[in-house]
Amino acid sequence: MPKYVPEPFKIKVVEPLKMTTRAERERYLREAHYNLFSLRSDFVYIDMLSDSGSGAMSDSQWAGMMKGDESYAGSRGYYRLVDAVRDIFGYRYVQPVHQGRAAEKILYPCLLKEGQYSIANMHFDTTRGHVALCNATPKDMVVPVAKDTENYAPFKGNMDIPALRAFIESVGAEKVGVIIMTITNNTAGGQPVSMQNIRETAQVAREYDIPLVIDAARFAENAYFIKTREPGYADKSIIEITREAFSYATAFTMSAKKDGIVNIGGLIGIKDDEELFTQVQGMTVPYEGFITYGGLAGRDLEALAIGLYEGIELDYLRYRIGQVEYLGELLRQAGVPIQYPVGGHAIFVDAKKMLPHIPYYHFPGQALAIELYLEAGIRGCDVGSFMLDLDPVTGEQPESEMEFTRLCLPRRVYTQAHLDVVAEALINIQERAEQIKGYEIVWQPQVLRHFTAKLRPLE
Ligand code: F0G
Repeated sequence: MPKYVPEPFKIKVVEPLKMTTRAERERYLREAHYNLFSLRSDFVYIDMLSDSGSGAMSDSQWAGMMKGDESYAGSRGYYRLVDAVRDIFGYRYVQPVHQGRAAEKILYPCLLKEGQYSIANMHFDTTRGHVALCNATPKDMVVPVAKDTENYAPFKGNMDIPALRAFIESVGAEKVGVIIMTITNNTAGGQPVSMQNIRETAQVAREYDIPLVIDAARFAENAYFIKTREPGYADKSIIEITREAFSYATAFTMSAKKDGIVNIGGLIGIKDDEELFTQVQGMTVPYEGFITYGGLAGRDLEALAIGLYEGIELDYLRYRIGQVEYLGELLRQAGVPIQYPVGGHAIFVDAKKMLPHIPYYHFPGQALAIELYLEAGIRGCDVGSFMLDLDPVTGEQPESEMEFTRLCLPRRVYTQAHLDVVAEALINIQERAEQIKGYEIVWQPQVLRHFTAKLRPLE
């Protein structure tokens, strides 16, 4: 049995869950056209669809909600949040927004011109979308080892520095509007980025005079991996590691719904560029609201100012990453193929390896996610070919390099016994994997289809 790191909290409020039968789940799935985003959460037992906004706030955060100051301008929570961000990240300028993609919507038009490129270790979908909305082209340059799911590497989220340099040389530095470092690298399996890689990426950015932006959604989990895996950081605190990592960048965007442990919220941080901050403020007012609330209620600002500190507590992070490692170990011991080592927020099951008889155009990651719901009421999602839209020019189905079923762990929500249920369900499925059938799409929209597409099981 792998070791489970005990919870550094006790439970004060509970939310009952509905138990369903397999026959009921078959019906719910049919009614949802085999799209797990169309399922009512009431019909889900363990919800691992996302770790975003799905965490449990602490008693201090709920107390903060009550203290929230709802003044239209200059609320107390705003100043408290600005102080927290300055303290944790060492940045001078802070703009709250309602969530991560709002930060992207505001910042990227300030940095990217039409026809330019943005280069990232990997762009998250919404980041990719906002780059495209600037009529710019996103390029992913993650290290090749990210795609080798079964072999250990400590920092599979890293930027491929030689590829980054070669690309900038080939198109010319003036064609690259921004370099983005996503920590942790969600799309590669929540994989961390090393301090050395952040430093070297920043060096390239400086050489070519290109701004470096951190996508900071899971900054604390990344800092924990640096502390536990990178030589020279074992004795540094999470806040020290965070300050060093962010000192190398120009700005960050953050979905605070992850490591900020709030149900809604986001941030833009700018190290010292006053002109860029003025531009950001100018965009915030029409899109999000007045600069001291940025699309949030005063109580949300309070909860976030508290959550940012709770998210960098070492005991919490040890338990948090420990949960993912525990589930990962249960699966590996039973021979279920997963992205290894596990990342910070989710288990990525390698559906291509588990269901080799299902071709990419019948969506192995989606087939496994559906089977897991049928088996035990567990909801995950496809991160593979089903997530990719059809090629807008040829109308063809692109093939994803990796076919994952992603199982996210909401923060401070599920217990060891819940994780045992998940492992048992996956192990049961593994035993009859060859009987599982693929799916075909019967209706889809043009963009971001995986949220609303309708599917049908193959006979
Ligand atoms: N960047 C990363 C790395 C993300 O994982 C997300 C959201 C965003 C930006 C956008 O933030 O949702 O607050 O607008 N990821 C969620 C997920 C949705 O399930 O992985 P948002």
